[in-house]
Amino acid sequence: MAKKLLGPFTQLLPLANLSLHGPLADHTLEIIENGGIVIEYDRIIDIGPYAALREKHGSTVTFVEIDTPAVCMPSYIDCHTHIAFDGNRANDYALRNAGATYLEIAEAGGGIWSTVQHTRNASMEALIARIIERVDALIKQGITTIEVKSGYGLSIEQELKTLRAIQQAQKQVPVDLVPTCLAAHMKPRDFAGDASTYLEKMAAELFPILRRENLTNRIDAFVEKSAFSAIEIRPYFRNAKERGFDITVHADQFTTSGSVIAVEFGAVSADHLEASTEKEIQILAKSDTVAVALPGASLGLGCAYTPARRLLDQGAILAIATDWNPGSAPMGQLMVQASILATAEKLSNAEVFAALTSRAAKALNLTDRGQLQRGQLADFNIYTTDNYQNITYKQGTLLPQQVWKSGALIYT
Ligand code: NIG
Ligand code: FE
Repeated sequence: MAKKLLGPFTQLLPLANLSLHGPLADHTLEIIENGGIVIEYDRIIDIGPYAALREKHGSTVTFVEIDTPAVCMPSYIDCHTHIAFDGNRANDYALRNAGATYLEIAEAGGGIWSTVQHTRNASMEALIARIIERVDALIKQGITTIEVKSGYGLSIEQELKTLRAIQQAQKQVPVDLVPTCLAAHMKPRDFAGDASTYLEKMAAELFPILRRENLTNRIDAFVEKSAFSAIEIRPYFRNAKERGFDITVHADQFTTSGSVIAVEFGAVSADHLEASTEKEIQILAKSDTVAVALPGASLGLGCAYTPARRLLDQGAILAIATDWNPGSAPMGQLMVQASILATAEKLSNAEVFAALTSRAAKALNLTDRGQLQRGQLADFNIYTTDNYQNITYKQGTLLPQQVWKSGALIYT
């Protein structure tokens, strides 16, 4: 029988009534006590009190009884990762903690460029294996949609290798990977021309292949003093827009300017924002560009957090992601990071859960997930606990007992 009725859940949180913009208090969370979900194939077709669903659908469903206490809510969306890499930067971390500067670390063989060397040297098979290992680690946390950037290839051939590896990995994992081209991560040291020439080459030669092979619909760039300036990146983004790509930006991480560019180009998201001032916060708040906080990078670098509270209070859309990468954010633990950000920035549970579900879906331009309601994908987590508040309270140590993706139990 294709239809299943799951329940009863002590608390079922559909997160369907949460607004996209601005602050959210916990009393806005709709909680269905003794709730249930009816799924058919990959979708939710009904949701509500378990007893009523049993009466309505009883003769047409297979029952999937849940041992109570149990809390069910939408599974998470990690809308910013760099998990397609090889190598390790533990030495960067040790040097940084011992007080070394960016330059000293680069001179000691570290930084983004060192990961580029390792990733270029990895075979396609090895790179696929690395991606799958990390996807498995994210699934255990209840994450069923994962954005994955390239950006450690930095040549036509190596960026293609990475994006093809992501495409191949997709065939071997039960969750959705959302690939993004980050050829504009930095100008590779072995490129002879200037930054603009590098970007022109990538736009002219790489973009058409991305389209032809259906490798990604998203273009990202690191707008920063050490990477690309606003002036350098504009023609690149213009070209990407003309070809119909969604734009996303590594913005305001150390210095401002990236978020202004993001809004100028109607980017789906502006990510990092640790250095954003009142001006950038206002610009983001007035836009539909999702502000993505990456507390893992703040923890990895020992830097300030994204001003999440001020962004929400001004009316911005806030998502939270891991930024999992070997340099600035090696942890890859979404709920650990989100709950730490919540204590630092004073975020309500409703704000944290929205940032990890519907608001993260918006950052990826996805409308079919992030809420439990009729018509949405049946992507949800079941926790063995009687109170949803335990999820943030346990700061990422309470893991889901079951993870469901597109109507299938993928992890238990
Ligand atoms: O999102 N900010 C730029 N890129 C990554 C770090 C990449 C690296 O250090 O390898 C980030 O933090
Ligand atoms: Fe990043």
